[in-house]
Amino acid sequence: MKGKSFKDFVEFVYSIRGFEDFFDFMDGITSDKDKENLPKRVEIVKKLLSGENHHMIAEDLGVGVATVTKGSKLVAKDYFKVLKEPEMPKPKPEASKSGYFGKYGGRYVPEMLQGELEKLARTYDSLKNSRAFLAELEDLQKHYNNRPTPLTYAKNLSEHVGGARIYLKNEGMNHTGAHKINHCLGQALVAKKMGKKRLIAETGAGQHGVATATVAAKLGFACTIYMGQVDIDRQRPNVVLMELLGAEVIPIKYGSKTLKDAVSGAIRDWLATSDDTHYVIGSCLGPDPYPRMNRDFQSVISREIRHQLGSSPDAIVACVGGGSNALGAFHGFLNDKNVRLVGVEAGGKSNKSGQHAARFPGAELGIMEGYKSYFLQDKDGNSAATHSVAAGLDYIGIGPELAELADTGRVEFVRASDKQALAAVELLAKKEGIIPALESAHAVSEGIKLAKDMKQDKKIVINISGRGDKDLFTLAKHFARDDFKKFLNQELKTYE
Ligand SMILES: Cc1ncc(COP(=O)(O)O)c(C=O)c1O
Repeated sequence: MKGKSFKDFVEFVYSIRGFEDFFDFMDGITSDKDKENLPKRVEIVKKLLSGENHHMIAEDLGVGVATVTKGSKLVAKDYFKVLKEPEMPKPKPEASKSGYFGKYGGRYVPEMLQGELEKLARTYDSLKNSRAFLAELEDLQKHYNNRPTPLTYAKNLSEHVGGARIYLKNEGMNHTGAHKINHCLGQALVAKKMGKKRLIAETGAGQHGVATATVAAKLGFACTIYMGQVDIDRQRPNVVLMELLGAEVIPIKYGSKTLKDAVSGAIRDWLATSDDTHYVIGSCLGPDPYPRMNRDFQSVISREIRHQLGSSPDAIVACVGGGSNALGAFHGFLNDKNVRLVGVEAGGKSNKSGQHAARFPGAELGIMEGYKSYFLQDKDGNSAATHSVAAGLDYIGIGPELAELADTGRVEFVRASDKQALAAVELLAKKEGIIPALESAHAVSEGIKLAKDMKQDKKIVINISGRGDKDLFTLAKHFARDDFKKFLNQELKTYE
């Protein structure tokens, strides 16, 4: 056995589980003949574990399919025996052909867009198993987007809390600072395959707009972002970034001049331009195929968690706006009934209507923005007012897959208040040197509570959906009010 290949193999095995199983593993899988061909065997096992097809692996490595099949027996018989775990489970629920999860989902859009959504669904269904497409996406994720994002054992925080071992899946390390780019990149690649030349999106706080403008610049699309005038006025820094990235930001000056009016603006544009324009939806919601397509693009998070942890955790906690980071973190574990899945909603200032954005309990079945789900509504069935300190959680609806998972009880929903989220930002910053986005801080707050009640040999993963840089102005109001005000005043003078 040559030194380098042996080292590769050790690193590989070590990264999967832990050194104590290495010798068992080696004995289990290697005959003398196998040892002669170890580097190739390692490659086969790696590819099998990442879910590649037997025929493709055989073709890639120039070996017979029988050799690969033997490799897969080794993986199943010995590797999984050691880990006591099946391959990545086939997650449930899956959208039905018509795009429903239970009674939620569907495609409630004007007739003129039905054909376009059908085309999008057909294209996506053909691409999602295409090796070339997945390889292109993976390459961008790795070399542009900075994946895999780290899974970090939060030693200081775990010791401070004194319960389960807390791990942080740090999606804030993605390019642009949050998980949103995972599905923006995926959608942009699908749009490219469909021959589209332009991307449009709506944005509330600006984060989705920035992620869309970013992938548009990278992949050579023209880009238009719709944003309510009220949101533009309070999120000006993100408007500057979007324009810097080459996007045109169109203000919506009617209605409440916020997110829902921006959605209407974008849909009106799409009705007229869908021939060459793709509408980038920013969470696991909207009409089919968006909820399942974005879920698939986000589920890289749970695949990485499983691989990085080397086993299933006992619980995963994620914040829930529309549902994309939560579904991304949960999806690969849905069938793993021993893993508790906890979604944390925006508890805002209080449980009074208009002061929070938590759908459970309280939201009602409705059809809005192209899909059927739970929405916070007033007594006339219109969108209710909502509030959260975290702009990304300040939303009336929830994606259809999470609505179904709430009904079945597979995902538990709890809420964290603005105050709890702010306290969690401070605690994570001081204990771990990580400043989470205010959205993610909701998950941190609840994760800590759960960890406290769990035994020390248990593991809990908190999904840190984004980093807190974008929240500087809000954080400064709470943590550095007077000093920051002085700074802003000084800064203002430089404009005169
Ligand atoms: C950092 C961050 N986390 C979470 C969310 C909530 O969205 P979702 O529920 O789709 O993950 C947002 C939305 O903008 C966000 O910016």
